[in-house]
Amino acid sequence: MSAPAPVAPDRATPLLVADGLSRRFGDRWAVAGVNVRLAGGRSLLLAGHNGAGKTTLLHLLAGLLRPTAGTRALGASPAGRPARVGLLGHRGQHWLDLGALDHLRVDARLLGRRYVRADAEALLARVGLEGRGREPVRQFSAGMQKRLALARLLHLDPDVALFDEPYGKLDGDGVALMDGVLAELVAAGKAVVVASHLVEHVAVRLDAGLLLDRGEMRWVGAAADLPAALAEARR
Ligand SMILES: Nc1ncnc2c1ncn2[C@@H]1O[C@H](COP(=O)(O)OP(=O)(O)OP(=O)(O)O)[C@@H](O)[C@H]1O
Ligand SMILES: [Mg+2]
Repeated sequence: MSAPAPVAPDRATPLLVADGLSRRFGDRWAVAGVNVRLAGGRSLLLAGHNGAGKTTLLHLLAGLLRPTAGTRALGASPAGRPARVGLLGHRGQHWLDLGALDHLRVDARLLGRRYVRADAEALLARVGLEGRGREPVRQFSAGMQKRLALARLLHLDPDVALFDEPYGKLDGDGVALMDGVLAELVAAGKAVVVASHLVEHVAVRLDAGLLLDRGEMRWVGAAADLPAALAEARR
């Protein structure tokens, strides 16, 4: 029997679609009935209290967690292949005994790409880790580990880029770096989702906003209007 023909990615589908996406842990719904449609070059801010379901939703969107109900689909990249999705998480995601350059080398291998040392060094310099590529990552400060996570995300070059608390642990330069990266990804036609408690800072930089409350969509609108919606929800 011949192998099934590969399914052509659907160019009509936005890069990221979630329909009724839901996840239950035990008898608690962490995410309940969330709908998202995000085209390339568009961005979404996720807000909500601690425990509102932001991280769980990002994991569902990244395909790292299986939904209890609902679906998540990825469209086609501009190159016509299925969209690639990347997540900058807020938990440790590095091999602590390896150096930063080793990470980029292993990632390149896993992605089936050629590893070019000079490019890897340039990428580390871009995130402020110039000259720190060889020591074990366990010696990195929290902000440096975050910067390495950013370098690895950029190296992956995802069509759908998901960020969980991207500003946490970063200093002032790091915040500016992150602002620049988010703007650049959107300008390059990526679909970008950011979960953040720095709502006022992020709201003016992104397109759409979604307020989660106990896993449910409490409010949807323009990101710029999210701070007011959040204040209203607190009353
Ligand atoms: N693996 C898990 N097992 C059981 N419950 C979980 C698990 N992961 C998340 N939860 C629960 O799901 C709910 C949503 O958690 P989540 O981490 O998605 O919230 P969050 O909006 O990211 O919060 P924060 O602002 O604190 O990062 C919480 O009630 C949490 O306890
Ligand atoms: Mg979270």
